[in-house]
Amino acid sequence: MMLIAKRGAEPAARIRRHVALSAAITALGGLLFGYDTGVVSGALLFVKKDFGGLSEFRQELVTSLLLVGAVVGALTAGRVADRIGRRPTTAITAAVFVVGVLLAALTPTYPVLLVARIVIGLAVGSASMVVPLYIGEVVPPRVRGGLVSLNQLAITAGILVSYLIDYGLSSTGNWRLMFGLAAIPAIALFIGMIFQAESPHWLIRQGRDDEARTVLRRVRDSGDIEEEIREVREVSERQAGVRELVSRSVRPLLAVGVLLAVFQQITGINTVIYYAPSLLQGAGFGNSAALLANVVNGAVNVGMTIVAVWLLDRVGRRPLLLSGTAGMAVGMTITALSFLGGSHLTGALAIVAVIGLLIYTGSFAIGLGPVFWLLIAEIYPLKIRGAAMSVATMANWGANFIVTISFLTLLSAVGGVGAFFLFGFLTLVALGYFWRKVPETKGRSLQQIERDLVHV
Ligand code: BGC
Repeated sequence: MMLIAKRGAEPAARIRRHVALSAAITALGGLLFGYDTGVVSGALLFVKKDFGGLSEFRQELVTSLLLVGAVVGALTAGRVADRIGRRPTTAITAAVFVVGVLLAALTPTYPVLLVARIVIGLAVGSASMVVPLYIGEVVPPRVRGGLVSLNQLAITAGILVSYLIDYGLSSTGNWRLMFGLAAIPAIALFIGMIFQAESPHWLIRQGRDDEARTVLRRVRDSGDIEEEIREVREVSERQAGVRELVSRSVRPLLAVGVLLAVFQQITGINTVIYYAPSLLQGAGFGNSAALLANVVNGAVNVGMTIVAVWLLDRVGRRPLLLSGTAGMAVGMTITALSFLGGSHLTGALAIVAVIGLLIYTGSFAIGLGPVFWLLIAEIYPLKIRGAAMSVATMANWGANFIVTISFLTLLSAVGGVGAFFLFGFLTLVALGYFWRKVPETKGRSLQQIERDLVHV
């Protein structure tokens, strides 16, 4: 069966059901990424009580050790995916998720909870790179932008669901269930991966052309298959191996991936995603007003990501990245201005601050959010794709960790005005860099992109 996606003036692109299903199942990894990073803020309130009142530092450890685990997970997963394949790597990641979330849910002591958060982090880091990698190689070029970005959509949905579950379970204080519910998508991902095919590009690189041909028959129109096998074989014969990562031809692309990663984080998204309720409470909002604003922010994040999924293959990556980043700068400036009169916001100023945050999040969701994960799945040569994505992904988690642990200190040092102007300024720097350096990849096959970007 074919699903028909209308594509403006271009001929309709058929998305085979198998392709859409593969992308959707694999994107469960994104759902887990979002859920596990989002759930902790609400759960902590109750974890704290059960373990006899944890110090602020001990609470921070529960949050940030996941990010440390993610750096390590991202570091390992790329090499593993290049060596044993994308499919088993995703299945192992799902199994690690199951172990981690069950350990967190059943933990007898605080130290075991920390171990569980590191284990979950390993899986989050691994999923964050292997999911876009796998989807990018399975789906046809004309719909790759939207389908790879189902991963980002799943991340945002996971964050929103975690807020709602935290909120729904807050009357019982059942933090074990808050953590444990993630076992359901993790088990679904594991079972789903048993039935998925291996990435055809990875198979061709291993010389397993017949198996690749069988997979490609399920996911491509027949006319393109032999051509694709020939092209993929040709590009995978061109490079020398992992040393290639630092070669003259790949280094500039590595810089693009790493800087996109760092800019995605240092422009402040997770200070909003992780800290918005405390920020708003600090600015004088009541508990439920702060939580409501947070849920609305999460919903805007999901809604605008849907728009991005729809637009990425129509208008391209660059226009969305550039306009989204400009929008983020506007949003941050509005929020900073609302704090000019002092840190306590009332009446119209409180509304202006929230509007600024919503513009910021919506703009991130339409550009830098999905485009970072999409581009790192597109711009690297096949032979080192996993390893190169690992480097960019590690940079993302590393920058996330640094911003997350230093934000509250920054806030008390320079206040809301200073912090938000700083993010606004960094966003403008990012915009200038993206304008000059980020390539357009819309509509081309991964082999064409490789031929255009990597000059050997
Ligand atoms: C980022 C995460 C962020 C999320 C928010 C992702 O693209 O990598 O750090 O929490 O978007 O939607």
